[in-house]
Amino acid sequence: MKHELATSAKQILLSNDRNGYTVPTDGLYPYQWNWDSVFVALGFAQFDRNRAWREIEILFESQWDNGMQPHIIFHQVDPNYFPGPSVWQTNQPNKHTSGITQPPVAASIVRQLWESGEASEQARMEALYPKLMAWHDWFATYRDPMDNGLVMTTHPWETGRDNSPEWDLPMSGVDTSQVGEYSRRDLNQVDQSMRPTHEQYDQYLAMVFFGRDCGWDQDEIVKNGPFRVLDVGMSLILLRANQDLLAMAQALGFEEDCKKLQARITKTQIGIDFLWNENIGAYCSYDLIAQRSSDSLSNASFLAFYADVGSPLQRQKLTQHLLRIKDTVSYLLPSCDPASEHYNHILYWRGPIWAVVSYMVGLGLIEQGETKLGNQVMLDTMAVIEAGNFYESFSPDTGEGTGGKQFSWSAAIWLHLNAQRDTFTLQDEPKAK
Ligand code: GLC
Repeated sequence: MKHELATSAKQILLSNDRNGYTVPTDGLYPYQWNWDSVFVALGFAQFDRNRAWREIEILFESQWDNGMQPHIIFHQVDPNYFPGPSVWQTNQPNKHTSGITQPPVAASIVRQLWESGEASEQARMEALYPKLMAWHDWFATYRDPMDNGLVMTTHPWETGRDNSPEWDLPMSGVDTSQVGEYSRRDLNQVDQSMRPTHEQYDQYLAMVFFGRDCGWDQDEIVKNGPFRVLDVGMSLILLRANQDLLAMAQALGFEEDCKKLQARITKTQIGIDFLWNENIGAYCSYDLIAQRSSDSLSNASFLAFYADVGSPLQRQKLTQHLLRIKDTVSYLLPSCDPASEHYNHILYWRGPIWAVVSYMVGLGLIEQGETKLGNQVMLDTMAVIEAGNFYESFSPDTGEGTGGKQFSWSAAIWLHLNAQRDTFTLQDEPKAK
């Protein structure tokens, strides 16, 4: 049984391979996506290490000169995807990309590949290192308007959690009067009940048009863009990635970089308290335009463990939420709190489980000594991928697959976790007599 699943998972990655990079799924997402590819590398690493490195190397070939690593790379135009390169109009020399970024998980995965690889693989880490550093520099320069180490995002698509209720308030202020007519392509592939509404799509496009119309001038987008939100997910992921990049800088003996990274880490460790929402008892995203917390508990809030932040009391509040949620769903970890009025077990980022976020949350819990809960997240993630047949995301209530089929990152995370399956036990530690 496990053998057949492994064969299916591997087959999904191989069939989504486009000669060195992997599409998230055939049809719905026909290009290379930033954080998808990075997680996909973890899956390839189970059977083809060279191919794992290649995935990330190809991604970074499209990095912008200012250091930004875009969220989509349009390697070859596919008329079935909207909005494609002719809408984004990023005008980068020899690069066809979107104009925004995505969560910076790359340094963390590169560190894992390097540490688990042969000595000869160190050269590949060394070649990627300056690119990762340039991307992290870009975040520090253009996405930290409060100078407190928190990441300001300029589009829900940057956060990777596209349709989370965290963005409802900030999106409500976006002017869509100039958007005009267009034809969505996602609804040809996936049931409308699982996808964003037309109104939301208009707002997404209005934000893209703002960037396009100012020639993707980062200063302008950061100062006057229609969507400016401190994202709890990107902030915690960048904090973790800075720690992982620091480990590489230390190994390479780059002292100046070490100092710079250490200063950024400290800044975020202090700055993150700005996002703590005492009413909710969790870190929550914050709308900089309305100056209001999202008051919304999402799976990203639990990345606090992955980034190693939070006082003992804050961590206790977070684990209490997890235990409460565990009692109301069949599988951890829903993308939205089931107690929220916005919860819908099949609607995009408003309930379904995304294996990649669950994997980071599970890893963080295990690393920080919340082993049983972390193992539960990992086991549920594998179980739901198996029940939901490698879909894009999964219902926490029924386990059914939601969104796109034959999804690369679900296959990759399953392969990665399956290799460690025996370490995820739910037994209590034996009590001392
Ligand atoms: C959706 C997801 C995003 C992902 C992309 C490709 O846009 O919200 O996180 O990167 O699909 O899978």
